[in-house]
Amino acid sequence: MIDFEKLAGENIASLIPYQPGKPVKELERELGIKKAIKLASNENPLGIPPKSKEALMNFLDELNRYPLGDCYYLREKLSKKLNVAQNELLFGTGSNEIIELLIRTFVKPGENVVSFAPSFSVYGIIAQANNSFCKWVETDKDFIVNFDKILENIDEKTRLVFLANPNNPTGTYFSEEQLVSFLDKVREDILVILDEAYYEFVDAADYPNSLKLMKKYPNLFSMRTFSKAYGLAGLRIGYIIGNSKALDMLNRVRQPFNVNMAAQVAAIAALDDHDFLRKVIKNNRDGKLYLYKEFQRLGLKYYETQANFILVDVGDGNRVFNELLHKGVIVRFLGPKLAPFIRVSIGLPDENKVFIKKLEEVIGG
Ligand SMILES: Cc1ncc(COP(=O)(O)O)c(C=O)c1O
Repeated sequence: MIDFEKLAGENIASLIPYQPGKPVKELERELGIKKAIKLASNENPLGIPPKSKEALMNFLDELNRYPLGDCYYLREKLSKKLNVAQNELLFGTGSNEIIELLIRTFVKPGENVVSFAPSFSVYGIIAQANNSFCKWVETDKDFIVNFDKILENIDEKTRLVFLANPNNPTGTYFSEEQLVSFLDKVREDILVILDEAYYEFVDAADYPNSLKLMKKYPNLFSMRTFSKAYGLAGLRIGYIIGNSKALDMLNRVRQPFNVNMAAQVAAIAALDDHDFLRKVIKNNRDGKLYLYKEFQRLGLKYYETQANFILVDVGDGNRVFNELLHKGVIVRFLGPKLAPFIRVSIGLPDENKVFIKKLEEVIGG
C-alpha cells in the first residue's frame, strides 16, 4: 500500500486545513430553509461594485486570451492612486497568495515567521506547508499586541513578521506610535508585513500610515485586498506594496499568469466606483454602531472594531454558533482558544436586525 502521508511528509500530514465559513446555499439545503444569512466570512454585504459588474459583462469575449501577466493596467491605475512607483506593487490571487509568495521566497525550511495570537491562521498553515513554522506570540489582555514579546521571540532564524492591522478575528488595531517603536528596534533584515486587508474600513486617527513609513523603513510592507471593501472576494485579487527589490524576488517565484483576467478587469473598474465604496463604508459604520448598541442592551461584552466584523463574548461561542446556524444565521465560532466568543460580520441593516433577534432568542432561552 502506498503511504501518501509519508510521501507528503510530517509537515503536510499534520496540517489542519483552513476552515472557511459555511456557504448560504449549503445551509439552506441542509436545513430545508430559504433566506439564510451569512455573516461569517467578512464579505461585502452590498455585493460587487456596479462598475465592476459592467466591466465584467463587456470583457467576456476576451476570455480565450491569457491575462496580462504583470497586471499592467491595474498596476498603472493603482500606482497613481497610491502615489507609489509601479514596481513597488505586486498582485496575487488574493492576499493569501501574497502570504504564500512571501514565505516561499524568503523563508527556507527550518526558518520561521512570527505573528501575534489570535490572528489570521493562514500565516501558520502556509509556513508549515513550506517546512517552516509560525511562532505565535500571545497578545495581552483585551488582545493588545505586546511588541516587546514579539521582539523577544524573533531569533536568528526569523525572516518575516506578519502583523494584521486591523486584526482578524478581534477587529482591534495598533497605532503608528506602537509600530514605529517596534520598527526602530527590530533588525532591518526582518521583513515586517502589515496585513491591511481591512484598511478601507479604518477610522482611527492614530492608525499607521504605512505608505509614509515605508519611505523610512525599507523592510516594511503592506498587503491589501479587493476581497473586503471592494466586494470582489470571489474573484481572488490582492496586492502588496513595498520595496521594489524585494518585490522583484517575489515576482521571480509567482506563476506567470497568477491573477486571472476577470479579477484584473473588475479591480480596475472597482477603483473608479467611488460611490460604491462610500456606500460600503457608510453601511459598515452604521451597522457597527447599531450592533454596539444592541450588544450593550443585551449586556454582552464586545471589542470595538476597525474592520467589518465584531468579536462578541456570548459565554459559550460553540453553542450560540450552532443554535444560530439552526435558525439560519451563519456566524463564526473561532475554536477552543476563543471559546466564549463568536465573530459576526457586519451585514445589511435587515441582516443585522435578524441576527440580533435570533441571538436574543438563543442567549435568552
Ligand atoms: C487578516 C486577513 N488577511 C488576509 C485575508 C485574505 O484575504 P484575500 O481574500 O485577499 O486572500 C483575510 C481574509 O479574511 C484576512 O482576514
